[in-house]
Amino acid sequence: MLKHFLFDLDGVIVDTARFHFLSWRKLVSAWGIDLTEEFNEKLKGVSRTECLHIILNAYHKKLSNEEFEQALHQKNEDFLYYVNQMTEADILEGVLDFLKFAKANGHKIALASSSKNAKIILEKIGLTHYFDAIIDGNQITNTKPDPEIFFTAAKAIGASPENCVVFEDAIAGVEAGKSAGMEVIGIGDASILTKADIVVKSFLELKS
Ligand code: BG6
Ligand code: MG
Repeated sequence: MLKHFLFDLDGVIVDTARFHFLSWRKLVSAWGIDLTEEFNEKLKGVSRTECLHIILNAYHKKLSNEEFEQALHQKNEDFLYYVNQMTEADILEGVLDFLKFAKANGHKIALASSSKNAKIILEKIGLTHYFDAIIDGNQITNTKPDPEIFFTAAKAIGASPENCVVFEDAIAGVEAGKSAGMEVIGIGDASILTKADIVVKSFLELKS
């Protein structure tokens, strides 16, 4: 049976996971918090609002509703500053060849990203036209590790979950894909993405 591909975006197609980290770190450093890369693993794949809840809970910090909204706004402004400088050159190694291979061989391709900025990023890097469906943070109610986004993306391309392969760099994303009954290929560190079916460092290792 032909497999179809569901792509996470940040940290899989482009290194925007780094930009999310730098933006959160800047925001919370003003509160005297030193955000580590290890802690940041908890924020990957998770919606902006949920990320802030995770940080506030972990550091026992309280914000008024207005401060909460302002913090989200500030974090996103800093993130978009990085995004606005992106070009096609920022596509991670091996991704473009993989997308071309998938298209040429009839595999459907969907984006399944928690980010509300996903469409802007795809436009900046010139990849929008490769995707048969784009599901982002504006279309889902439950953030990863809930499987909702992967079910929605599979449905949008007319694929059943068992015929979908998910590409993910986040612990929450790997869990979401597995909960959806899909094969999950982790992109990154095998000691972090322990629930993935296999883990590769980049798409270069997935040469067909
Ligand atoms: C995910 C990232 O893709 O999008 C998370 O992995 C991020 O780290 C989430 O919090 C939400 O992104 P945005 O762009 O809507 O703030
Ligand atoms: Mg990601």
